[in-house]
Amino acid sequence: MKTFDSLDLEGKRVFVRVDFNVPVTKEGQVGDDLRIRAVLPTIRGIMEKGGRVALASHLGRPKGKVAPEFSLKPVAEHLSHLLGMAVPLAPDCVGDAVEKMVATMKNGEVLMLENLRFHAEEEKNDRSFSEELARLADAYVNDAFAVSHRAHASVHGITEIVKYCAAGYQLEKEIRYFKQAMEEPKRPLAIIVGGAKVSTKIGVLENLFSRADYLIIAGAMANTFLKTQGKSVGRSLVEDDHIETAARLLKTANEKGVKVYLPVDAMVAPSLTVCGDVQQVPVDHVPADMQILDVGSKTVELFKSVLRSCGTIVWNGPLGAFETPPFHKGTFAIAEFLGNLKALTVIGGGDSAAAVKLAGMDEKVSYVSTGGGAFLEMMEGKTLPGIAALEECIKRG
Ligand code: 3PG
Repeated sequence: MKTFDSLDLEGKRVFVRVDFNVPVTKEGQVGDDLRIRAVLPTIRGIMEKGGRVALASHLGRPKGKVAPEFSLKPVAEHLSHLLGMAVPLAPDCVGDAVEKMVATMKNGEVLMLENLRFHAEEEKNDRSFSEELARLADAYVNDAFAVSHRAHASVHGITEIVKYCAAGYQLEKEIRYFKQAMEEPKRPLAIIVGGAKVSTKIGVLENLFSRADYLIIAGAMANTFLKTQGKSVGRSLVEDDHIETAARLLKTANEKGVKVYLPVDAMVAPSLTVCGDVQQVPVDHVPADMQILDVGSKTVELFKSVLRSCGTIVWNGPLGAFETPPFHKGTFAIAEFLGNLKALTVIGGGDSAAAVKLAGMDEKVSYVSTGGGAFLEMMEGKTLPGIAALEECIKRG
């Protein structure tokens, strides 16, 4: 995608849509700052070109109301610490006062606008709200991959009004890695899909059948597949209304020649909270009063043996209840394994990214996407409305 490198930004007001939807603690501190650090090269790049950077983001879901707990103040403070310079927070993201603030910025300065979602019009992709946002912009840069699956005013509507559009470096990188992994992969391509529910990943799995060589299914969603195969999974989380879906998906995989791997053993306990009595059992011997909470060591070895030969690996969704030790072990073991492989390893989705970070492997895998829902929609083969709109604007400009 065309980045802002090709734009003359000297003295220009550059409206940069970022996704600073990050965890904020009760004490008002930013938790995981991956999404903020990811766009620093874009911010610095625009500053170096003499641009005036107005950053726009949402935080949480305040539903069109001003709510102090969703203020971007902690983010502006964190960013100013990372950049080593003042990043003031505007009182709003639109309006006369904000327009004046942006108009009086000097080249190389950075301003954080207040939460876009304090205005209901943002999520409605409202035309006049888009026009108000566009009044702050000589040029528009989208560096918010994680929200590009939303057709919102700051992602979509504004691109129909602003003359000059470009991608930020992070958005360009997200698309480049995704394409490299999913569209032009060095084969074999293995995809690991984990997480809680089959129902949220049906579209993903269907799309993967025409791309992947190997499909590894784990996490609680694997339970539904195991049940399809006639295994009794005790009190484990199962989507009984998707047993047939799981059977159909396995059949399609088989028809398309995609080799599917499911767990062969599991770590089980009475529940996540009563986990004193953890046992490792084969998946066809799960006691009736126990729950599967992680993959077992034989499964880890099986998965490693598949992954070892791969040229490309894409991973979305944890293998177990990784936030509650000792059920992190399967997820961490695979994260560590991927971190030491030469293959292209791309991790996407909030939980997987968090797990890879907790396992200390975020710097060792090839790429950790900042996207959650956006990454999943790309895996489903969907065109993200924010990216399509940006491309249109770039073409026009
Ligand atoms: C995300 O965290 O996935 C993005 O910021 C999008 O947030 P949303 O699901 O509230 O639109």
